[in-house]
Amino acid sequence: MRKVSFAEFGGPEVLQLVEAEEPHAGPGRIRVAVRAAGVNPVDWRIREGQVLGAHPVVLPSGVGLDAAGVVDEVGEGVTGVEVGDRVFGEGVDTYAEFAVLGAWARMPEGLTFEEAAGYPSVVETALRIVREVGVRPGQTLLVSGASGGVGSAVLQIARDRGIGVIGTAGAANQDYLRGLGALATTYGEGWVERVRRLGAVDAALDLAGSGVLRELVELTGSPEKVVSIADLKAPEYGVRFSGVAGSVPAALAEAVDLISRGKLHIPVEKAYPLAEAAAAHVDSQAGHTRGRRVVVV
Ligand SMILES: NC(=O)c1ccc[n+]([C@@H]2O[C@H](COP(=O)([O-])OP(=O)(O)OC[C@H]3O[C@@H](n4cnc5c(N)ncnc54)[C@H](OP(=O)(O)O)[C@@H]3O)[C@@H](O)[C@H]2O)c1
Repeated sequence: MRKVSFAEFGGPEVLQLVEAEEPHAGPGRIRVAVRAAGVNPVDWRIREGQVLGAHPVVLPSGVGLDAAGVVDEVGEGVTGVEVGDRVFGEGVDTYAEFAVLGAWARMPEGLTFEEAAGYPSVVETALRIVREVGVRPGQTLLVSGASGGVGSAVLQIARDRGIGVIGTAGAANQDYLRGLGALATTYGEGWVERVRRLGAVDAALDLAGSGVLRELVELTGSPEKVVSIADLKAPEYGVRFSGVAGSVPAALAEAVDLISRGKLHIPVEKAYPLAEAAAAHVDSQAGHTRGRRVVVV
């Protein structure tokens, strides 16, 4: 089969499309014929060797955690899923013709493979951080960097729960945030005042890692009301850095429920053929993805 692989850590140019042995589904796992793989920032962080503590890598390595596809092998002990089912979920080396998944759910009706591939990691992350920041219905959550994959999910989960949101994003994404039910303003000089004019905030999420933790603590009144997924300096401000994934099966079940009720939609910014995975990484690393980019097989 063909898969995207890298033999050394480095820039997007280390990604190669290679012939490789097909993986097989061990106990408790399934194999899918991949139709699309989600492109997450963690994919290029792993490729650069930035996150070896959380994601140990043996070179040469495949790429990709999220996928949507058609089940073609069911491992020992797995029940409730059959060959031929359309599923989305998390696994390893998903930028490939076949990949093994450790967590999956049946794709909701009406969702394309390209769309489905964009959900697993962002929904797990969004549900986890909304829980960890402790925001309740009727309160207001400030989301710094609200237009990307995780932000898109956070805004819609918050809306579904009756939590108000003020989001920051670039000028081109203001209407996008408003369409997801948030009050919106731009980041950059003067942003704290612009947020204050939109209202008081009870809790805040830093999704961009753009060096705003001091301001988020000031706006919420306490470091305990702030969570970051992108700024490793969080502990210096007394802020929690959230980096340990919660239950992916539970997140997928909740994603299916939200999608089926028409409450969650993550747009696909762009789909790239497998052979252009490096271009997908270049574009993701530029830091202005709306929703999710995906690689299609
Ligand atoms: N710790 C964890 O468990 C975990 C899990 C998932 C993701 N992450 C990390 O969280 C970050 C976000 O992930 P993602 O998948 O949502 O990324 P993404 O889809 O690439 O989105 C990035 C977003 O950041 C916004 N942005 C860029 N510069 C900004 C600035 N100066 N201020 C505010 N927003 C800015 C962009 O908005 P505009 O386009 O509007 O400029 C863009 O929408 C990444 O760094 C990722 O590695 C961590």
